[in-house]
Amino acid sequence: MEQMCRADFPKDFLWGSASAAYQIEGGWKEGGKGMTNWDAFVRIPGKTYKGTTGDVAADHYHRYKEDIALMAELGLKTYRFSICWARIFPKGVGEVNKEGIAFYQNVIDECLKYGIEPMVTIFHWDLPQALVDAYQGWESPKIVDDFVRYAKTLFTYFGDKVKYWITLNEQNIFTTLGWLTAQHPPGKFDAWKTFYQVNHHAFMAHAKTVLAYRQMGGTGMIGASFAYTPSYSMDCRPENAMAKANYDDLQNYWWMDVYAYGRYPVAAMNYLKQKGIEPKMAEGDEEILKKAAAQISFMGVNYYKSCVCAYNPPDGVTFHGRINTTGEKGSGQEVGIPGIYRNPANPYLLTTDWDWSIDPSGLWFCCREITSRYALPIIISENGLGAFDVKTEDDQIHDEYRIEYLKEHLKALREAIGEGCKVIAYCTWSFTDLLSWLNGYQKRYGLVYVDRDEEEGGSLQRFKKDSFYWYKQVIETNGTCL
Ligand code: BG6
Repeated sequence: MEQMCRADFPKDFLWGSASAAYQIEGGWKEGGKGMTNWDAFVRIPGKTYKGTTGDVAADHYHRYKEDIALMAELGLKTYRFSICWARIFPKGVGEVNKEGIAFYQNVIDECLKYGIEPMVTIFHWDLPQALVDAYQGWESPKIVDDFVRYAKTLFTYFGDKVKYWITLNEQNIFTTLGWLTAQHPPGKFDAWKTFYQVNHHAFMAHAKTVLAYRQMGGTGMIGASFAYTPSYSMDCRPENAMAKANYDDLQNYWWMDVYAYGRYPVAAMNYLKQKGIEPKMAEGDEEILKKAAAQISFMGVNYYKSCVCAYNPPDGVTFHGRINTTGEKGSGQEVGIPGIYRNPANPYLLTTDWDWSIDPSGLWFCCREITSRYALPIIISENGLGAFDVKTEDDQIHDEYRIEYLKEHLKALREAIGEGCKVIAYCTWSFTDLLSWLNGYQKRYGLVYVDRDEEEGGSLQRFKKDSFYWYKQVIETNGTCL
């Protein structure tokens, strides 16, 4: 594809890698940590692939020093990780758990020791179960103040050392899978009205956290990370192009417009009103959303795949097509909203074993769209390939497919930068192998292999994959070796 202009990665570019507490930490009953919604959910039979849990995960809770030393060896400039709310407040509210604070203080200090900039996600889906028991978690507006109190605690303890804050990870995904497809906690199905209300509460929690950070004198960067799946119209038939507009409003701008402008997209809101499923807003909410939007520093983007949009008849496919969680290529089904849009496969793109399209240009589109529509700096907070990796007898992992994936995405990112997109950081997903929420341990994303199998056995030993050495070289040359 022809690029309009070309540039190199900026000198101070933050080359990074990412993780999330539940997916790596383990130590689920240690250090005074409380139960989370995920600790409970994985215990419901049939909810996760082969019943896998994060009880031990990659055992980062005990091995963080070894992991961060590996990050230093690789040359990471930033490490994005999340904090488990229930380690800080075991019951979601109340007394601060000093052991939890100490754990993250150690992680942060360990990063800084090697000159690695910590990038902290405040919420990556693990919610104290006590708040679910008390008021159904995100379903109640009560969560907003509790969330802000939790976030302020983090700013108080870690604010002098952490300069990059991500309020919420993929609000669009945890709410969709939690209230529409029943695949994440609280496992609700087709609860559309609650879904939009839950999202409104999450937006308010995000917005009030941004405002609190600034009120507390925070001068670092703060924003949310959005799972951005950009779309292409199937062809130039106007009804397909309109399906794309519908998809963009309902699946992308619904979130990004609120983060960046503090308002919901008009056509989507009218559609929800017609269906009687629009969120209820309290007086003053709009003003708060707008104020916070003016104070975010970046749009965080988690990018994995793009999609195609086509007209979907009123009796067409629904949201409930099967998701491929086994790695059996082709076992996923088409999804859509009847009468609004559907997402057929893209015949021009290859897919992963989990049926995710592989589309480096999609990342380029994301950056262009954010730049044109919001004029915000961009942090690519996740990008990576989930694959079956094989460790050879001599402990090598030849993941050339992952290198290829990352290389092509980075080249696309460089094009976007050349065209004027202000991209400040890029984090591969993930640093070590970890628990893929619904897909178990067999779907590996790491630059570092963790010896852990589906039956949750394995030595937990770390092994550097070929992609580790490759990414090291990319960082050393600031991307010029691409
Ligand atoms: C993002 C999440 O949705 O994608 C991660 O922020 C997740 O937590 C990643 O692991 C990959 O998704 P999956 O389902 O393949 O693990």
